[in-house]
Amino acid sequence: MSRPSLITTRLTVDLAKASYDICIGQGILNDAFGLLDGLVDPREPVAMVTDETVWALHGAGLAATLLEQGLNVTPVVMPPGEQSKSMEGLETLFAAFSDMQINRSSLILAFGGGVIGDLAGFAAASYLRGVPYVQIPTTLLAQVDASVGGKTAINWRQAKNQIGAFYQPRLVLIDTDTLDTLPARELHSGLAEVVKYAAIRSKSLFSELQANTDRLDLPSVIAQCCQIKAGLVEIDELDLGDRMLLNFGHTFGHAIEQAGSLSQVRHGEAVGMGMVIAARIGEHMELTRQGTSDSLGMLLSAYELPTRSPWAPAKLMPLLASDKKSKAQSIQMVLLREVGDAFVQQISIADLSRAIDEME
Ligand code: NAD
Ligand code: GLY
Repeated sequence: MSRPSLITTRLTVDLAKASYDICIGQGILNDAFGLLDGLVDPREPVAMVTDETVWALHGAGLAATLLEQGLNVTPVVMPPGEQSKSMEGLETLFAAFSDMQINRSSLILAFGGGVIGDLAGFAAASYLRGVPYVQIPTTLLAQVDASVGGKTAINWRQAKNQIGAFYQPRLVLIDTDTLDTLPARELHSGLAEVVKYAAIRSKSLFSELQANTDRLDLPSVIAQCCQIKAGLVEIDELDLGDRMLLNFGHTFGHAIEQAGSLSQVRHGEAVGMGMVIAARIGEHMELTRQGTSDSLGMLLSAYELPTRSPWAPAKLMPLLASDKKSKAQSIQMVLLREVGDAFVQQISIADLSRAIDEME
């Protein structure tokens, strides 16, 4: 008798060259072997890239099951944290891939949070000019954002995501049960990205988040975020237009992360503070409906997220100049007309500085 599928939502990221599915559900990794069927010849080596925390909680069990079922899996276990998303981390993966004779018919599993997803994804993109990989995200942030869309990268010289590639996974497996072990701070960090999706694209999701602070239907919320992201990636895979809307909150968010030395502030926390700054700037420039920054701030607070940057926006300005989104003397910033309606605005550094000075 066939077992009922544990997948509650299956979405497709429909791309000209490389379409792939996102499977979402509780406990879907119990059928990981079945879900990976057809993606790799069981005789080929499979690398499971993960971090020590995820390995101890979920990875060892999953690897053992896959091995038992006939997949030739070898784990590569990295230290947890942003420092693994580095040139040294990349070299560790390349050495492991070489040792286990990974080839272009192999498969790489990126099993962990956004750090592992970005690192393993970039290693997959660059090793032998491209090895297929599957994203199996285990943080909320990675489930709603980092695992979808093929942005892969490492940090370099204190700059976030400085070296990377667009390289789409073959499949994304989102098992919401993995979130049961996630520390509250990490869960909240992911919720900041959820708020971001609502802010840029979905008033109804924003209302759902406001009304259900203590009883969110996470699988449904994750599916809505992935649907929004898939839609933006489909129309703008290379981030030259509408996909940039996903950067709402990131201009100042990245600066906050850098000011706090990448590891102290969680990515989602920084994005949350960055969204409030962006909304305040938009309101000041009369491009954003008044009260939007307050609505955002209240929602973030309800999810126990900080809303005020420890560094005044003026102090963060020098860090924007090195941001990938800044071109010469101006910067492309995502602003909101109102909740659910975002747009990209080219703003000169001079105008931005003036607005920030006037706001303070
Ligand atoms: P992370 O990968 O560092 O994970 C956070 C912590 O949670 C780690 O200590 C990890 O070991 C632990 N963890 C992971 N899963 C767990 C689980 N199920 N139970 C218990 N602990 C668990 O951080 P993150 O917030 O997932 O990702 C942040 C990274 O993602 C940043 O580097 C950011 O630049 C990147 N990112 C990339 C994209 C993209 O589109 N590629 C989008 C957003 C963010
Ligand atoms: N996280 C932003 C993007 O994928 O474009």
